[in-house]
Amino acid sequence: MSEPNDFKITRRDLIAAGAALSISPLSANVAAQSPPVQRALEPTHGGSVSLLVNGQRQQLDLDNRTSLLDALREHLHLTGTKKGCDHGQCGACTVIVDGQRINSCLTLAVMHEGAEVTTVEGLGTPASLHPMQQAFVDHDGFQCGYCTPGQICSAVSVLAEIEAGVPSHVTEDLAQPPQVTAAEIRERMSGNICRCGAYVNILDAITDVAEARA
Ligand code: FES
Ligand code: FES
Repeated sequence: MSEPNDFKITRRDLIAAGAALSISPLSANVAAQSPPVQRALEPTHGGSVSLLVNGQRQQLDLDNRTSLLDALREHLHLTGTKKGCDHGQCGACTVIVDGQRINSCLTLAVMHEGAEVTTVEGLGTPASLHPMQQAFVDHDGFQCGYCTPGQICSAVSVLAEIEAGVPSHVTEDLAQPPQVTAAEIRERMSGNICRCGAYVNILDAITDVAEARA
């Protein structure tokens, strides 16, 4: 009969025992299910979408899960529209779709069949800037410029929204059309974050365009 002191565990025995114990019923169950899960994640769902981007008809074959932002940047190479957070929190990806500004990172391209999309490239050209682009230059409405395309697309839409009488959270009298005030502009531009803090000059630029129109 063996004595207690004869009982020996080698390092190899210990590792083998640990590996056997780590395969719990739960993980074994997940492993058994993994093939169908992987199949569901495979990019097999393609779709075709037609967009009018900056005045040009574009026919795109995309994975259905492609965001409008990625369709513009990766497929049409319109890299003016920027990806900041990719989560709808910074506004860097703002574009104008059928006259309304949206965060292009939060919407799928295939949801916009036939839509008219305007990016910063479609507002003006280097030789002939859109008045809002010119105002941002005149007022130093940027530093690094990363947020600027989104700021400009948003600003163009903000003035259109005020002109159309769309109220905001700070519109005091809902029975009257909203006015272009600093408070209205700040509130309506609050979804566009600028890490360089160029807010004062952005406000000046938008006010300048509004006054020139008036
Ligand atoms: Fe779309 Fe930030 S990249 S909101
Ligand atoms: Fe740099 Fe706005 S100019 S983030």
